[in-house]
Amino acid sequence: MYLSPEEEKMSNGEYGETIRKSMDILIALGDIYGASKFVDITSAQVSGVSYKTIGQAGLEYLEDLALDEKGFATIPATLNPAGVDLDDWKELGFSEFFSDKQNQIVDAYGKLGISKTCTCTPYLIGNVPRFGDHISWSESSAVAYSNSVIGARTNREGGPGALAAAIVGKTPLYGFHLDENRKATMVVNVECELNGIDFGALGYSVGQIVSDGVPYFKCQEQNITNGNLKALGAALASSGAVALYQVEGVTPEYKTVDSDNAEETITISSDDIKETKEKLSTTTEKPDLVCLGCPHASLEEIKDLANIVKGKKIANELWICTSINVKAAASRMGYTDIIEKAGGHIVCDTCMVVAPIEDLGYKNIGVNSAKAANYVPNMGGIDVIYDEVENLIIFE
Ligand code: F3S
Repeated sequence: MYLSPEEEKMSNGEYGETIRKSMDILIALGDIYGASKFVDITSAQVSGVSYKTIGQAGLEYLEDLALDEKGFATIPATLNPAGVDLDDWKELGFSEFFSDKQNQIVDAYGKLGISKTCTCTPYLIGNVPRFGDHISWSESSAVAYSNSVIGARTNREGGPGALAAAIVGKTPLYGFHLDENRKATMVVNVECELNGIDFGALGYSVGQIVSDGVPYFKCQEQNITNGNLKALGAALASSGAVALYQVEGVTPEYKTVDSDNAEETITISSDDIKETKEKLSTTTEKPDLVCLGCPHASLEEIKDLANIVKGKKIANELWICTSINVKAAASRMGYTDIIEKAGGHIVCDTCMVVAPIEDLGYKNIGVNSAKAANYVPNMGGIDVIYDEVENLIIFE
């Protein structure tokens, strides 16, 4: 892999240990994937934040990295969700030990110059690349969104790779940074209308078939929202390893991805969507916890939820996961108040998958996200119900 004279200096440790270590990681990645050189990036999004995921070893690695005052993010960079709501952890039932460890991790990232906004929807809070920008993001749903809906360019980075890229301001040039890897590999003819959780079910079923390819959807809908695309991409990226998809007439690159030469064409019918929705639920019981906001909720989604619960009393628990930024806006709009009066919580910084939710005693979790439905049953005997919000929330 070619290194410029400046990159040689970074790699030789002339700018300190943290930059040297970061270059080691990036050069190793570049060598594995056959990159010819580095490319400058404009944004990073770093996973590997929850104490549940990275544990004590991860915390010590980050604290060690943060000792070197010369090594910190040189470009806008944000964190993926953490394991707890950093402010309201006690109210939600998380342990003091776990929450302390979690705060130490986030503080170490802060010292490395990564913004302590913990969210998988950084594009809703100002970490927004432009069309064609090279970036280094690691949360799979955010990768799918940035590549597909924004038209920026990133591979599905691991946490250490994205952190190294944030510090160096560069990433190896390979994979989805290159035009030739952004071509459609499969055309998906969607024969039915899609509403609500159908988008997640569509993503889940196609992700299983297309694996790490690039699906090109031909849908009947004219009014696909960003929320629909967010759900579609998250599901594609969780049942498969999709980093990029196109929707004809919707995503910005759909005309340039050569869908006529895709290797395969499949058809998705209303029966396929129905079958996938049924398969994603593991119980017919009612949820004791309804957990929404996977990926993290937008202000618009919180507004819709506030309208659903306004003036009512919720009988089961309700969490709406989002970033601290979106919660602040929701509070100013009065949505937080409405939701709390109904008995629900707007939960910041975390989600039902990266939090140690299995320790809180819930048995059946209701979700409207196919990604969450895919992961929750793997967490210590918890069952999941995949359904529309109106069917998940029980009112007194
Ligand atoms: Fe985000 Fe957690 Fe879902 S990280 S995409 S809310 S599993």
